[in-house]
Amino acid sequence: MAKMTNDEMLKELANRTPKSGELWKKAQDLVPGGLLSQARKFKPYPFYADHAEGAYIWDIDNNRYIDCTMSFGVHVLGHCPPTVVDAMVDQAKRGTSYGTPHKHEIEFTKRFVDCVPCAEMAMLCNSGTEATMIGIRMMRASTKKPLIAKFEGTYHGWHDYAQWSVYVDPEQMGPEDKPNQVACSGGIPDAVKGTVLMLPFNEKAFEMIEEHADQLAGVMIEPVLGGGAFPAGKEFLEKLREVTERTGVLLMFDEVITGFRIALGGGQEKFGVMPDLATYGKIIGGGAPIGAVAVSQKLMDDMAEAEELVSSAGTFSGNPFTLAAGAETLKYLMENKNVYADMDAKGDRLRNGFNDWAKSKGYEFCLTGMGSMFQLHQKAAPISRPRQALNQDSDIMGDLQLHLRMNKVYIPWFHLAFFSVAHTDKDLETVLSVLKDSVEAIMNK
Ligand SMILES: Cc1ncc(COP(=O)(O)O)c(C=O)c1O
Repeated sequence: MAKMTNDEMLKELANRTPKSGELWKKAQDLVPGGLLSQARKFKPYPFYADHAEGAYIWDIDNNRYIDCTMSFGVHVLGHCPPTVVDAMVDQAKRGTSYGTPHKHEIEFTKRFVDCVPCAEMAMLCNSGTEATMIGIRMMRASTKKPLIAKFEGTYHGWHDYAQWSVYVDPEQMGPEDKPNQVACSGGIPDAVKGTVLMLPFNEKAFEMIEEHADQLAGVMIEPVLGGGAFPAGKEFLEKLREVTERTGVLLMFDEVITGFRIALGGGQEKFGVMPDLATYGKIIGGGAPIGAVAVSQKLMDDMAEAEELVSSAGTFSGNPFTLAAGAETLKYLMENKNVYADMDAKGDRLRNGFNDWAKSKGYEFCLTGMGSMFQLHQKAAPISRPRQALNQDSDIMGDLQLHLRMNKVYIPWFHLAFFSVAHTDKDLETVLSVLKDSVEAIMNK
């Protein structure tokens, strides 16, 4: 990699992406902040996508990138898998939304419950955010208790009950064993704060659950934390299951990322721990918007007994376009279960390859993650919890993004990255070598 200053790289990237630059200028007047999500931020500006296929994405200036964003974890089969695209095209010609039941609802849900250990039924919606909203409502309804607990550093979508202490901010976080509950958005009423209990990501959480059990409807957790790519771990999840079961508190796994990614049965299969309910999104829509809550008959019975039937609707919920794509995606994964062992091995090679190299060089960088999920940190390995990932230098991480983009690897800004079934060993070798070269360039600036 030729040595370039940041200014030279910014100039070169702008030269390579003039059409994206034009759209970015227009976006300033049309979209608040120019972006629909801060996770899409990039220096000097984001590229505008033209098309994608398999492991690659092309911008409108015809630059090709190895895609390690994969629409934030949506495309486990890679972009545009032929059978899924065929199902979408076929369904688009028959109608994309009906407002009446259709066969894909049954076909999709049958495959979904066959794969998800805690599922006997599924409620369908349009996003992971909606799924956790419904899940929370169900936990409150079936227990008739008001409080919901979440862990510091976890993301469960952007609604009012979830947007608390998603990021760990050193200035506001408070003590490790009793984290402050920090709002991550304006506009959340103060009244909501008292309905959420903030848990530390350590054993103290179990004591807090016992203490609040009489008011606590349920606890939600990501089996692998999306923020930082930290597996919660089998032992931790087993203890969480034990304490919640013993104290009459429900346990909800948020499998919006891990579902159908780290195993066909997601985190519950991988770690061998059965939650009472679980939320899904991303992969199960086959590239179209979706959310789902996996529920048991018992949970439905408990709600009926409590006379608290939960309302959920949605014009597009369970639309045939999404479910045709989703059903085809699940079919592929069910018929090709070997893809998970393959992605595990590739992910381990990537993480170990980088971490061994960083250690041998004495560089304080590491990759965390599991299976096809990984995240780069400016920290020496091993780290396993969000508070261990604090105080990374945002200038250095920003420079890293510049190097990656210069070398045509698309990894999201400060975010978990993904690869897919379509990424070959060669693609991942390129990603590893670009990661190493980028760190090397920054360390020798
Ligand atoms: C664990 C988790 N839960 C919920 C959500 C929200 O899903 P969506 O973006 O589909 O609303 C996300 C999104 O990234 C997530 O990672």
